Amino acid sequence: MKFFVDTAEIDAIAELNDLGMVDGVTTNPSLILKSGRDILEVTKEICDLVDGPVSAEVVATEAEDMIAEGRKLAQIAPNIAVKVPLTWAGLKTCKTLSEEGQMVNVTLCFSVNQAILAAKAGATFISPFIGRLDDINLDGMDLIADIRQVYDNYGFETEILAASIRSVNHVADSARIGADVITAPPAVIKKLADHPLTDKGLEAFLSDWAKTGQKIL
Ligand code: E4P
Repeated sequence: MKFFVDTAEIDAIAELNDLGMVDGVTTNPSLILKSGRDILEVTKEICDLVDGPVSAEVVATEAEDMIAEGRKLAQIAPNIAVKVPLTWAGLKTCKTLSEEGQMVNVTLCFSVNQAILAAKAGATFISPFIGRLDDINLDGMDLIADIRQVYDNYGFETEILAASIRSVNHVADSARIGADVITAPPAVIKKLADHPLTDKGLEAFLSDWAKTGQKIL
């Protein structure tokens, strides 16, 4: 399973990257706003830092303009994945750019039918949003499972990028289902290491070790 970090904060990406936990990065207009940075500058810095795909999202709503924005974003670095919304204009952009050899991440996916359309348009990644479905009392994880089944039924090669992840359980459940990639905020990725029994066990080991009076170094 690949880990993408869902942020445009350079320091947070660098910290996880140093630990070998970053296979890619996803950004969106809201994350760019939060970073307070210029999209072209910060995306270039992220691409220089990380080897894997870095999603940068178009903001036009008509296909012609989306395609132009996508081509401009693609010039930032070879590891850009142009992110487009799951609209007909976004799907047209996906088809055009993927035929040009560009990685495309189709985002804001909330149904299995939308995921089928993205695969047929040649998407490199489909981003189903788990948390936002949970927010309206639907089960985001069911969508990941449905897309996995349908993609496997037909051999679609588009990678399932489980997005809008809000908890460590979302990560574990996505892994059980077989999502190809998860993208999560840095805080969620850091929480994956936490377990109270690890803390308790370590405390006991260190206490017993102190009683031995020994040193390793
Ligand atoms: C995915 O690419 C999106 O940037 C992100 O996961 C959305 O998450 P949110 O629903 O928590 O904003």
